[in-house]
Amino acid sequence: MINFAIIGMGHIAKKHIEAIQSAEGANLTAICDTNEDRLKEAPENVKTYTDLEEMLIENEDIHVVNICVPSGLHAKLTKIVAEKKRHIIVEKPMSLKLEDSVEMNKVAKENGVKLAVVHPNRFRPAIQKLKEQVANEKFGVMSHANATVRWNRNQAYYDQAPWRGTKEFDGGVLMNQAIHNLDLMLWLMGPVESVQAMVATRLRKIETEDVAGAIVKFKSGALGIIEAATTIYPKNLEESLSVFGEKGSAKISGRTANLIETWDIEGINEEEVRSTKEEIQNDPFGKPGHQWIIEDMVKAIQENREPIVTGEDGMAPVQLILSILESAETGKEVFIK
Ligand SMILES: NC(=O)c1ccc[n+]([C@@H]2O[C@H](COP(=O)([O-])OP(=O)(O)OC[C@H]3O[C@@H](n4cnc5c(N)ncnc54)[C@H](O)[C@@H]3O)[C@@H](O)[C@H]2O)c1
Repeated sequence: MINFAIIGMGHIAKKHIEAIQSAEGANLTAICDTNEDRLKEAPENVKTYTDLEEMLIENEDIHVVNICVPSGLHAKLTKIVAEKKRHIIVEKPMSLKLEDSVEMNKVAKENGVKLAVVHPNRFRPAIQKLKEQVANEKFGVMSHANATVRWNRNQAYYDQAPWRGTKEFDGGVLMNQAIHNLDLMLWLMGPVESVQAMVATRLRKIETEDVAGAIVKFKSGALGIIEAATTIYPKNLEESLSVFGEKGSAKISGRTANLIETWDIEGINEEEVRSTKEEIQNDPFGKPGHQWIIEDMVKAIQENREPIVTGEDGMAPVQLILSILESAETGKEVFIK
């Protein structure tokens, strides 16, 4: 059994708890939150702490710590946990500054611990199918991709906690919401060469952007078009990802990029298209993404290998988003090293 602990008993921790409890080979040992009230929501039989160091010292049998605190704190807590020689699963975005992501990867390596980043949408059945087609070069030469996030986060959402919508602890629509889709776009299309963008804060009273538009050029020469907003009236409308190549067009859509809308790929006949769409329609989410991440960490430890979504993977969308924000601020095309 691999023993897990969680830091931060907020909204997303509930998914981590469910995932650990459902995952094969995983056991939830302890939860830490600096707000004692939040710990009342911890499951029975799980030890609770308001002090992280105390939790780690008292429970030498904790193998993995899941970091579920506001994003601006991920880097600081990763360092503390890595130095105590525990493996880490950190929520997205991995960090809000590039130097923090670099440091997190460095500190994990130096202390010989594994670092996984929670990008659970990679495990969605429709996305897995698309990745397989792209990896097998079924699209031929890629022309472009499109990542669209048209969601609603109303003012009450931002007002529920002081860290939301801040530059220091949260980031805007790109860092908090669109990062899932941007991670998928990078995973399919490969690294980015440059980006040109504009962002705005139109409808919410927050420090960060609530709407963004960007065009990226991938190192392959293909383009990517990004639209992201939390301003959509009156509720979430769409999260979609499209890829277009010389021999194929595919669009994964739905409110959370989980259904196949278009699947026109050379060599795939109508009957196969119909059955693929039907298969996804019948099980649009598959096993929860958080459970995949937990089970993968269990196996990564047992097999002494890297997790599927590594700290290097987690750094790529952070770097893209920071470059988009830099371009929006300077009005210039930003090149990514
Ligand atoms: N993967 C996903 O789909 C997904 C979805 C939602 C949120 N998230 C991410 O999860 C993180 C947390 O989001 P949330 O919505 O659960 O926030 P939240 O505000 O509901 O919960 C955060 C918790 O962390 C606690 N906390 C703050 N500082 C702490 C510290 N130093 N030590 C221990 N506990 C501390 C707070 O008291 C709070 O209970 C964010 O990084 C967010 O981006 C990911």
